[in-house]
Amino acid sequence: MNLATAPAHAWPLTDLRPSPDDILGDALAGLSSTPKRLPSKYFYDAAGSRLFEAITRQPEYYLTRVELALLARRAADIARTLGPRLHVVEYGSGSGRKTRLLLDALQAPIAYTPVEISRATVLDSTARLADAFPGIAMLPVCADFTRPVPLPTPPQPARGRLLFFPGSTLGNFDDHEAVALLAAMRDTLGSGGRALVGIDLVKDPAVIEAAYNDAAGVTAAFTLNLLARLNREVGSDFDLAAFRHRAVYAASRQRIETDLVSLREQSVYVAGRTFAFAAGEAMRVEISAKYTDAGFATLVARAGLRVVAGWNDARDWFGLRLLEA
Ligand code: TRP
Repeated sequence: MNLATAPAHAWPLTDLRPSPDDILGDALAGLSSTPKRLPSKYFYDAAGSRLFEAITRQPEYYLTRVELALLARRAADIARTLGPRLHVVEYGSGSGRKTRLLLDALQAPIAYTPVEISRATVLDSTARLADAFPGIAMLPVCADFTRPVPLPTPPQPARGRLLFFPGSTLGNFDDHEAVALLAAMRDTLGSGGRALVGIDLVKDPAVIEAAYNDAAGVTAAFTLNLLARLNREVGSDFDLAAFRHRAVYAASRQRIETDLVSLREQSVYVAGRTFAFAAGEAMRVEISAKYTDAGFATLVARAGLRVVAGWNDARDWFGLRLLEA
């Protein structure tokens, strides 16, 4: 091979060729159901990912800040509990700031595997960390993490696998889906594997609600961007000015429910079909579950996992939980 023309970084990408998203089919199915809904996985196009990064910097959005501080503050204890020479796997690594804190703290981690459904994103995540961690084998995988993911074998044997799943992303799945995802994680990890999961905890509803209704309107722009994306990618004609963002904490269900609410009676055209909205009609676009220790233990038990260690910030706003099969 001519080294002069080789890519600067040729990571061994494991491409499981996840089936491409059916955004039109998903949109039509969601708009046809009662009540209407749209799948939240479509929030994260280029503009949506930028808006989400902006959400994490809003003063009201405590989740990212508190989780980062918790990781930084307890890193040594977490690393001691986890032990040396791990193969770290991460689902959806985002900006990689939490990953850096974890990899920095761990003793001699062997390999790092980001898992993303998008090839470009998984290579981005790899590139972002590779220079900072030259001693760690970068083994990216392109796959759908809601199903079990066969993991690549590190060049040097690892002492165990650790799946890092921060950000309370688990809370964006309903209970049934969350149990299925946790069961898939358990399969992915195999025997002896562990998972370190970030969970947002039940607290004063005013604090939670403010996090999803920032004064600067970044979260509103983020949810409305979903309609802009649909207009662009499936040719719908949503009028972004005719819907408003609404995020309410449903205390009985311990979750934020985010809707786009139709401001007037209107029709929306999607691929030759018409969908009628009543004035005030809500379309569900996201849920963000908040957990108690008891509720979380019950949830993971349904997937054959148990909580073996945990760390909270001083106010018990956010937690990290270590899970084992
Ligand atoms: N995982 C994030 C959360 O549940 C995602 C998120 C933040 C989000 N703000 C949002 C999703 C607003 C939809 C709408 O907190």
